[in-house]
Amino acid sequence: MPRHSAEPCVFCIFGATGDLARRKILPALFTLHTQQKTPGCLVLGVTRTAEIDDAKFRDMAVEALTAEKLPADEVRRWADAALFYQPINNGTPDDFRALSDRIAALEKEHQVPGNRAFYIALPPQAFPDTIAGLAAAGLCRSSGWTRLVVEKPFGRDLESAQQLNAIVHEGFQESQVYRIDHYLGKETVQNLLVFRFANAFFESIWNRNHVESVQITVAEELGVEQRAGYYESAGALRDMIQSHLTQLVSLVAMEVPSDMDADAIRFEKVKAVRSIASIDPDEIVLGQYGAGEIDGQPVPGYRDEPGVAPDSNTETYVALRLEVDTWRWQGVPFYVRTGKRLPRRLTEIVLSLRQPPVSLFEPFDACRLSSNTLVLRVQPDEGFVLTFDVKAPGDPFRLATEPLHFGYHEAFGTIPEAYQTLLLDVIEGDQTLFVHADEVEASWKLYTPVLKSPRPVVPYAAGSWGPPQADGLLRGPVRWRNP
Ligand code: BG6
Repeated sequence: MPRHSAEPCVFCIFGATGDLARRKILPALFTLHTQQKTPGCLVLGVTRTAEIDDAKFRDMAVEALTAEKLPADEVRRWADAALFYQPINNGTPDDFRALSDRIAALEKEHQVPGNRAFYIALPPQAFPDTIAGLAAAGLCRSSGWTRLVVEKPFGRDLESAQQLNAIVHEGFQESQVYRIDHYLGKETVQNLLVFRFANAFFESIWNRNHVESVQITVAEELGVEQRAGYYESAGALRDMIQSHLTQLVSLVAMEVPSDMDADAIRFEKVKAVRSIASIDPDEIVLGQYGAGEIDGQPVPGYRDEPGVAPDSNTETYVALRLEVDTWRWQGVPFYVRTGKRLPRRLTEIVLSLRQPPVSLFEPFDACRLSSNTLVLRVQPDEGFVLTFDVKAPGDPFRLATEPLHFGYHEAFGTIPEAYQTLLLDVIEGDQTLFVHADEVEASWKLYTPVLKSPRPVVPYAAGSWGPPQADGLLRGPVRWRNP
């Protein structure tokens, strides 16, 4: 999105020694620094423990970043110059006052003009107290800008999301709040806007007259890994569908914004989510992976993963059928699915186009259906493929389906990591790629009834494309694309 400039700031990370900080936030801040995009940005790590100090935090960051294959010397120079640490202990008012004093001291020493970002990279149960603590200590405003960054999941149903929004809004204005959904930072997800609204060709077919169905898949090869503590109380519906997949649905379904302003885009996305009809309980399939094989290697079932209850009913797979009740999409099914321990990592959006009105070529190839399909590949092998029919040369007269292919890496080389884009947006003050309070509530409103009326969770083997029951959601000739 159009860029403002990045002013010097104190970027404060709550949960600074956690997995997210080590694997995503600190590497992204370091890379932005090496690209000279964030001059004067100081990073203040915050956790509960008083056993860490600046030096130990720097050592930890160096170790974490070199494990991510970033250059050790440069990382060390950055850490020594720009990384600091402050314990928040039990989060008492005195602890927050001490944090406030430390930020003020850093600003004075490094001539930072009162610009502050607070990134809440903590387990969700710690969000409310931390945000309330910041507000009570007067840390929601300063002489420069103050921004609050909140990780997902934002709430666990409509009620808790509303409560969390109320806590946030007690101290912060919505214009200060950056709710992260890292899918929005992926280049290929942002490209959906350009793809649709910069190309008259694609936008002209982007409706019920031409599109038979939309299919969105986020498949993961990985299992739950070491995250059972969180995942057992979340499940795929909360973890993936309510956030990442609903974001993809809204970007596919939204109307043209009035301009590229953050509010104009977010307004159209909220409208799209609100237009999704309530979900019919028969149009959803939940699954849980059992033991199986990935890449020829045996892997355990979900219930045998560390930290998972042996009788757990948590879903690791969801497939559902959505209807977007708008003029543009009336009658077009949106098939949405996600799962862990599927055969490969793959995120794609598939638009199957309608058959031509007359089956002129049926006599030559009676069983064949026309196959105009647009596949937008979000990851990996980012790009798109448009398939179309051609006459295969020679006799007999025969049709063949051929692809028209665009690859991001071939065209542009490497593409930035989502967290780099999002953190730079926070520092530059661009909210376009962050989730608005209204959108998060609209999304929970849609899924809360489903969460409150539990469905059976059916098994599928790790390494398969999920439970066969998901095929029953599909109408007409469409099939799940399992490439
Ligand atoms: C996270 C989920 O938000 O997204 C994880 O909590 C999931 O469960 C991850 O594995 C997937 O992200 P990506 O970018 O690897 O597709």
